[in-house]
Amino acid sequence: MIKKIGVLTSGGDAPGMNAAVASVIKTAISKGIEPYIIRDGYKGLVNNWIEKVDINFAADIISKGGTVIGSARLPEFKEESVRQKAVANLKALKIEALVVIGGDGSYQGAEKLTKMGINCVGLPGTIDNDIVSSDYTIGFDTALNTVINALDQVRDTIQSHNRCIVVEIMGNGCGDLTLYAATGSGAEVFSTKENLLSEKEIIEQVKVLHDKNKRSVIVAVAEKIYDVNELAKKIEKQTGYETRATILGHIQRGGKPTAMDRYLAVKAGIFAVEELIAGKGGLYIGMSNNNLVARDIESTLNMPKVDKNEEYKKLREINKAV
Ligand code: ADP
Ligand code: F6P
Repeated sequence: MIKKIGVLTSGGDAPGMNAAVASVIKTAISKGIEPYIIRDGYKGLVNNWIEKVDINFAADIISKGGTVIGSARLPEFKEESVRQKAVANLKALKIEALVVIGGDGSYQGAEKLTKMGINCVGLPGTIDNDIVSSDYTIGFDTALNTVINALDQVRDTIQSHNRCIVVEIMGNGCGDLTLYAATGSGAEVFSTKENLLSEKEIIEQVKVLHDKNKRSVIVAVAEKIYDVNELAKKIEKQTGYETRATILGHIQRGGKPTAMDRYLAVKAGIFAVEELIAGKGGLYIGMSNNNLVARDIESTLNMPKVDKNEEYKKLREINKAV
């Protein structure tokens, strides 16, 4: 049986990553395995920032936001010569297996490390919810609650002032945070890459609401599509609403993880260590229909995105009601 397991967090941090780290450490110790943390993701693996930890390390991190072991992006990890340094560092310490907490980019590194002799299992840690074969990712629920709270708060002020507001929501190429937050907050107009509205369509929808005397309008848009300040100016000019714009940005990444994110993180952490003990690697743990499943990283990276167009359509229908 393996005697040592490492754990790292990689890519953009996400609330709940600490709960996953704690779970890996506790599961390992409970099974007689020595746990090691790697600081700053693959960067720390290459630079040998690897430390043995005891149970005290896991004691009070479960409720903390961010990742206490640090995360980083290291594009050079795509090069085999760079990964060889990481493998050499792990082998020198006799660490045979690794839990990688991150998104699909991090999984690609994990898959390559597995092929180089270090069994890796990935856990879905990202606010974006863009791991196609998992219903939810660790961090999504917390970020979603942050966005919904923000939308509730802007509603208070635009309702007072009879205004429209454009809110830009992070999520990289995945519109789930925008779609779910629009659903949960009643944002009247919303647009993502998966179900895109042109600026003209957004303005038309806002104008209809203005003409029907709707007192406040939230336009929730996914990041990296529009210049929201320019869009707000156009809405103001063409609809009659005084309009503001706000970008939520990295506020979405922080904060204490919600109960659901902690629950998913702890359960997935236990499962990952069990799979590594069983001698498996090149796997990723996801949540599918309320069950944890282990899938090949390779197959998961090629899975088609779930089509949510019907969901968009139904929500747009009810938003027309004034
Ligand atoms: P995420 O894991 O959240 O998707 P990134 O896409 O930034 O975040 O990936 C995190 C890190 O994973 C990268 O900085 C890099 O070190 C590593 N990585 C990404 N893609 C690959 C790849 N094709 N091969 C090896 N390592 C990769
Ligand atoms: O993947 C998480 C995420 O927060 C995305 O939603 C966003 O596009 C990106 O990371 C931002 O990256 P950075 O922290 O490097 O600005």
